[in-house]
Amino acid sequence: MSFAIAGEEFIKSWAYKHAMIKNIIKNRRSISSFTGKKVPLELIDELISVSGYAPSSCNTQPWFFLVFHTKKSKEKLNSYIQKGYEYTNQSLKKEHKIMGSIYARLLSFFSNYGKFDEAPAYILVFARPYNAPLFSQAIKFAKNKQIEKIADDSVKTSSAMAMQNFLLIAHEKGLGTRVKDGIKFLMNFDKLKNEFYKEFKIPLTYQLISGIQLGYPAKKALERKAHPRISLKKARKFV
Ligand SMILES: Cc1cc2nc3c(=O)[nH]c(=O)nc-3n(C[C@H](O)[C@H](O)[C@H](O)COP(=O)(O)O)c2cc1C
Repeated sequence: MSFAIAGEEFIKSWAYKHAMIKNIIKNRRSISSFTGKKVPLELIDELISVSGYAPSSCNTQPWFFLVFHTKKSKEKLNSYIQKGYEYTNQSLKKEHKIMGSIYARLLSFFSNYGKFDEAPAYILVFARPYNAPLFSQAIKFAKNKQIEKIADDSVKTSSAMAMQNFLLIAHEKGLGTRVKDGIKFLMNFDKLKNEFYKEFKIPLTYQLISGIQLGYPAKKALERKAHPRISLKKARKFV
């Protein structure tokens, strides 16, 4: 007896859906080189809408996507990141007295790892403040910093889930992404952070989660094998 099913019936089947989603998750790669092709803004909107089906604490849906798609705005963003590195480097040298070869390695790490590569769009993901009636009241009345921290962590976790949805749906649409955390360097410096938020009219209460570069991947970028993953033994424990 054969269990094979064909055509439409197969497409509706659990096995097909499972294979599809597994492929999407396993074949996504972080992409650093892109073709020059622009990503239509309507497509970016669709990616953001679908990403919003992520779970969120008390259904707060706290994510906010700031999309840099013009040459001018991307240059501006990069110039802030560059300043963030410069300030970080100065503080490493002056305040922490980190010198010599470690300093040189750190410097090279910071400046190569975090900067956005040439890509059609850079997207910053923020988490808006926690806004659920009961929890917000609890934070207000308890005046307990720990509850505030839990709420802060929750909006970050929820936004990171939307971010992961974004990476997967973008991959499914034939786009490439790479998370870029370098932007966070400038957040270490209040002066720079305030300037940045003011320039792009972002409320200071929005917390930066991370950055994503987005575009159509260059062929060679798609040829890279997946990095090996940690073993199940390391990743889980049944109790
Ligand atoms: C929170 C986070 C921060 C990351 N920051 C950077 C970054 O600043 N620069 C970069 O080139 N890649 C960054 N990455 C991408 C990782 O290097 C990449 O996901 C990892 O090496 C695994 O490769 P894969 O995404 O192709 O599976 C970041 C990824 C995450 C999740």
